[in-house]
Amino acid sequence: MPPPGPRAKDLVERDRHTLSSSFTRPYPLVIERGEGLWVTDVDGNEFLDFTAGIAVNNTGHAHPHVVAAIEQQARRFVHMSGTDFYYEPEIRLAERLCELAPVKQPSHVFFTNSGAESIEGAMKLARWATRRPHFLAFTGGFHGRTMGALSLTGSKAIQREGFAPLVPGVFHVPFPSSSHPSRGSDVTFDRIEEIFHTVAKPESFAAVFVEPIQGEGGYIVPPNDFLPRLRALTSEHGILLVVDEIQSGMGRTGKLFAVEHCGVEPDVIAIAKGIASGMPLGAIIAGSGIMSWPPGSHGSTFGGNPVSCAAALATLDLLEEGLIERAATQGDILKHALEGVQQRYPSVVKDVRGRGLMCAMEYPNSGIAHRLMHLAFEAGLLVLPTGSRAIRLCPALTVSADEIAVAVDILDQVCADLAAPHSAHDR
Ligand SMILES: Cc1ncc(COP(=O)(O)O)c(C=O)c1O
Repeated sequence: MPPPGPRAKDLVERDRHTLSSSFTRPYPLVIERGEGLWVTDVDGNEFLDFTAGIAVNNTGHAHPHVVAAIEQQARRFVHMSGTDFYYEPEIRLAERLCELAPVKQPSHVFFTNSGAESIEGAMKLARWATRRPHFLAFTGGFHGRTMGALSLTGSKAIQREGFAPLVPGVFHVPFPSSSHPSRGSDVTFDRIEEIFHTVAKPESFAAVFVEPIQGEGGYIVPPNDFLPRLRALTSEHGILLVVDEIQSGMGRTGKLFAVEHCGVEPDVIAIAKGIASGMPLGAIIAGSGIMSWPPGSHGSTFGGNPVSCAAALATLDLLEEGLIERAATQGDILKHALEGVQQRYPSVVKDVRGRGLMCAMEYPNSGIAHRLMHLAFEAGLLVLPTGSRAIRLCPALTVSADEIAVAVDILDQVCADLAAPHSAHDR
């Protein structure tokens, strides 16, 4: 019997009665436990996890080093608040991030609990440091759902509908795509110049917020000239370049930060998701000249939680001991195999794109993408949607070549089913 089984069905029903109706669960996975790339649901069904909990569990489920670090820190103390007191795990983690982040040195760190809180803090920091009101962001971009972050988000209209007025002073321009020649960087920069000449002068902009590869927007990789040109433009006008590495960072693309692929030095980096292998933690890293706000100007009770910092230190060890390079090599294997699927089923797979283990497959429409996700789930593979008609493959960086082969076999079979004339799924 395909999942969901009886216990999963019962829990989904109980969830429906008690949890917020705002979530978008693509299929009824009810997880009981996970190890490495594999998760088991409450009915004992096994799945290969190519979601990593939305690109979070970069070291796989329950990595023994991460679990040991969490256990050890939890026995010492679970919380004390870095806003009021000092503790070594937070200081050690800040030191390591400052050493690794490609921002102007010396630098400082502010720890948060989530991606949205990192973006929220970066918006405040940019306004504080520049005393300018405006922000530039990109259509297709996703930066979170709190009021400030949502004002920058331009991914899906439903995410903003009903929440106006948002933070004023945000201008959106198109994000260029290396998959579509008609969406090159010139279109974007022409639009920015138009805004500068007609609506708001460049010196009124505090910051540009940009994802080096758009995550929720469809795993869109921009052309190589895009970020260097954006850096040059922002430097010319004293605008801060804030890079949102919340999904693309922490080794996923084969570099610790995706922005390193193009040699650009941003002013501020926002991270979260993969930094602590699933423990809630985020951070803003900025040059010390920018992050010099006075005591009391920003804080967070839980930000930089010591157990999360311990998990992050263990995660950084694993990333530096080989997982970053592994993301590049395994990503090449995965992309190559997915291109094979595209060649076999060109009527179903319209594009394969991404960098490292941030890979997407695009389909002709959202209906096919959703059917494919359901069929993959029934066959034992977990994937998530991205953009309007794509699925993303963002497994843990520990993924093996055999696990990639299993996932691609399932996708191949599902695409064959969908490509078959008069496929049962069309009826
Ligand atoms: C690029 C990016 N920025 C910000 C966020 C928001 O993070 P969170 O859900 O932790 O608030 C996300 C989440 O998907 C993201 O992908």
